[in-house]
Amino acid sequence: MKRDNIALIGFMGTGKSSVAAYLNQADGYTVVETDARIVQAEGQSIQAIFDRYGEAYFRDRESQILAELCRGKGQVISCGGGIVLRDQNVEQLRQSAWVVLLSATPETVYERLKGTKDRPLLTGRNTVAGIADLMEERRAKYEAAADFTVDTDGRPIPAIAQEILRRIKEME
Ligand code: S3P
Repeated sequence: MKRDNIALIGFMGTGKSSVAAYLNQADGYTVVETDARIVQAEGQSIQAIFDRYGEAYFRDRESQILAELCRGKGQVISCGGGIVLRDQNVEQLRQSAWVVLLSATPETVYERLKGTKDRPLLTGRNTVAGIADLMEERRAKYEAAADFTVDTDGRPIPAIAQEILRRIKEME
C-alpha cells in the first residue's frame, strides 16, 4: 500500500519539527507545518491567536489548513499537538498519509519545553504533573490515529527519522 505523505503527530515537545527538519535536510522531503501555516496566514503568533480569538478559532483554522496540506504529495506534514482532537482531522490524515506518533515521557517534554512562551495549552500546567495529565487525556486519541509509534526519549533525531522511514518501507 502507498500513501502520499508522512504525517508526524504527538504531544508538544515530542520532536515533530526537529524530525521533520531532519527528513528535509537528509532525505529531501518537502516539509509543511500546520502551526507555521496558521502563523503565516494569520500574521501573528499561536499565543496571540489563542489570546485574541480563543481555542475554537485556532482549531477551525488548523482543520482548514490541514485539509489544504493533505491535498499535496511527497510531504512530511508536521502537525500541531492537538490535531487529533477532531475526528475529521484524523480521517483526513489517514487518507493521505502514514501517520506516525512520536512519544516522549512527561519528564522529557517538560525539559524540552520549560523555557517556551508560545504554548498556550501549557499555561498554568507547565509542570511534569500537568503535562502528564494532558498527555493521559489525549493518549487514546493519539494511539487510535497512528499507524505506528516511535519513542523519542534519549534518542538522536537521525535514529528516529531512520526508524520512521524503515517502518514505512516495511508497510508499503
Ligand atoms: C497544541 C500544540 C501546539 C500548537 C498549539 C496547540 C496542542 O503545537 O498547535 O499550541 O493542543 O497540543 P506543537 O505540538 O507543535 O507544540
